[in-house]
Amino acid sequence: MKIGYIQFNPIFGEVQKNLDRTIELITKGKEADLLVLPELCTTGYLFIDKSELQRFGEKVPDGPSTKAWSKIAKETDTFIVAGICEKVSDSEFYNSAVLVGPEGFIDVYRKIHLFNNEKDFFKAGNGPFKIYDLGDAKIGIMVCFDWVFPETARILALHGADIICHPANLVLQFSQKTMLARSIENRIFTITANRTGEDIRPNSQLSFTGLSQITSPKMELLAQSNEHDEDVKIVEIDPMQARNKMITANNHLFLDRRVELYSPLLKKEVEK
Ligand code: ACM
Repeated sequence: MKIGYIQFNPIFGEVQKNLDRTIELITKGKEADLLVLPELCTTGYLFIDKSELQRFGEKVPDGPSTKAWSKIAKETDTFIVAGICEKVSDSEFYNSAVLVGPEGFIDVYRKIHLFNNEKDFFKAGNGPFKIYDLGDAKIGIMVCFDWVFPETARILALHGADIICHPANLVLQFSQKTMLARSIENRIFTITANRTGEDIRPNSQLSFTGLSQITSPKMELLAQSNEHDEDVKIVEIDPMQARNKMITANNHLFLDRRVELYSPLLKKEVEK
């Protein structure tokens, strides 16, 4: 199976231009069976008021971006996961990722763990965590800051994800390294599609770290881009590697869990 990502620098608010660029880059990566694009890749990231979300957000699946991605997915026979500002109404928005494939639109994932000022603009998704059987592999989706919570990747892996698709606009320096841990601790592949460049807005600006990457169940870095350049990277993998959860002949990653001791994981309060 050929899996890949697209790294690029969306221009804030230039939805049509950004969408056109994604189509060009998807066409370049058309040999892939599965391609992941960055978070919020048609709008840019740094919103400063809700009217911008009203203007730039889109309905899913009936908005132009999801339709265009569905069309190119059919033409190139590729599954695509891409980040989008999802507009449910003029007051309800999600930081979402759509999944489309050769048969068209499949589903939308709404980011569960919102980062920083995203809380001013987006509602948090309420799950549930889902996986999708693409035939060659089962995939799960998480968006950017979801990486901070190991529960996200763990639950997707427990549901059977072989590959986690991770559209991102990463800003913290240690995110990509941590995704290697998410791979080894769950014995799965991960595809982090990050953006590059900066959003420079009135009174605020943010730089994004690039370094998009693909990691393996053995904690290998199968591909990585640099911090600055647009890039399309594709690697061939055997998704079945992710089905082997044996750590030693006597240790199974999931069956050796001592869940009877893990009850604090299910409480929000932190013991003092
Ligand atoms: C992030 O979640 N975009 C940092």
